[in-house]
Amino acid sequence: MSKHTIEANPVGPINGSPEQNAYMEELERQLTVDTEKLIDIKNHFITEMIKGLNKPNHTLAMIPSYVEGRLTGEEKGHYLALDLGGTNLRVVLVTLEGQGKFKTISTKARVSDELKSGPMRNLCDYIADCIDTFLTEQNLGNVDEDLALGFTFSFPVLQSKINRGILTTWTKGFNCSGAVGKDPVLLLQDALLRKHVPVKITALVNDTVGTLLSNAYQKPNTLAGLILGTGSNGAYIEKMSNIGKWEKENTTAHEMVINMELGAFDNERTILPLTRFDNKLDRKSINPHSQIFEKLISGMYLGEIVRNVITDMMDRNLLFTQPGQSTEAISAHYQFETSFMSSIEADGSKDLSTVREVLDTNLNLTNVTDVELRIVKRICELVGTRAARLAGAAIASIAIHTKVDRQGADFGIDGSLYEFYPSFESRMYTALAELMPDYADDIRNIIRLGLARDGSGVGAALTACVADRMFKTV
Ligand code: BGC
Repeated sequence: MSKHTIEANPVGPINGSPEQNAYMEELERQLTVDTEKLIDIKNHFITEMIKGLNKPNHTLAMIPSYVEGRLTGEEKGHYLALDLGGTNLRVVLVTLEGQGKFKTISTKARVSDELKSGPMRNLCDYIADCIDTFLTEQNLGNVDEDLALGFTFSFPVLQSKINRGILTTWTKGFNCSGAVGKDPVLLLQDALLRKHVPVKITALVNDTVGTLLSNAYQKPNTLAGLILGTGSNGAYIEKMSNIGKWEKENTTAHEMVINMELGAFDNERTILPLTRFDNKLDRKSINPHSQIFEKLISGMYLGEIVRNVITDMMDRNLLFTQPGQSTEAISAHYQFETSFMSSIEADGSKDLSTVREVLDTNLNLTNVTDVELRIVKRICELVGTRAARLAGAAIASIAIHTKVDRQGADFGIDGSLYEFYPSFESRMYTALAELMPDYADDIRNIIRLGLARDGSGVGAALTACVADRMFKTV
């Protein structure tokens, strides 16, 4: 069984005090998105997609990626890729071998909190140094011609060319000064020039677009690429004739990859069933009122929503009330990580020994009662299920809008939540079957979700390759 198909083990009845039981029933009511509500959300999502395709600067930005046409799987060559926006910064050397095959060599570096929120110039200098070190290690430091690099920059960028764009806002905890409103390619290229690193950035790509391309390299019927990880987003192939806002030069292509920036869906708060726990998270985040959908479905935030529920119960003397219980760790922001939820949801033991261990080891919560273990597990289930169902609604919207028929389509997905969170995929399928009842009998063969590994690395290389192809045909 691959990691992304590990199933959760639902907890049985809570059997707590009447107050605890009542709280949990009310919580369940608030965090459950039933079929009817999910249909409303899906319908609104499709309406918003169409608006975004027709109108610039709409909430659902629907950004043309300038990646035209489809891949054949026969693309070949050596390309450099740079991946910024996930957990780590990565430099990757990709060799495309054709027939959907590739090899990669890569290096990872951590981006410190200081770099994430300092001047953009410092971040670019750091990246240029990482690329330089990698090239030296790979004996690529002395080349006659600059090496072509595909830059996966996983933030909302309004593209104006395949290698140009303007950062509209930071997300996922990044907040460097001097970058919003600027072109990340020019900023990084400047650092590379200053440091004499022989690299030319030829493609700028969102990680979802990269994921779509890397999946398509192996599965030509790929319709979309999604990231369900620290942050969330999707890209899909749209007909040029549906992109009403496209005013640029004529293109002979009939299709273009659209970066949806779906994390911003419903920033207006008209349809999503937000609770006070979500509002609290949003208010205390570095980007209040934005990325509302992302905050309900992504790895960066799910643990914090759970923590908000837990602390609310603590404030009402419904949880961790034992004398001497140390509640310092659980009281600090972002101390309940989404990875804890994965371990907790997977725990199928009778005595919930893993839940106990997670709370003890990571949060110093000891002497936790069985009822409390069940409550924590149930909160994780509710928050995790809601996330997967909402992500499923986004996928159904793409499929319905693009009129997927019984032949079906492939959806490449990357990201820690999809890969590691128990039942995330099967909960998405349950939602998909509810939203696409005509296909419910065969949903897994029609909406073919699959893990697309290293979309950011291989995808950036493929985009650099597409950029070559495009430049050669003008
Ligand atoms: C960004 C997207 C990105 C997604 C997944 C979001 O926060 O806005 O551009 O694709 O995270 O990394």
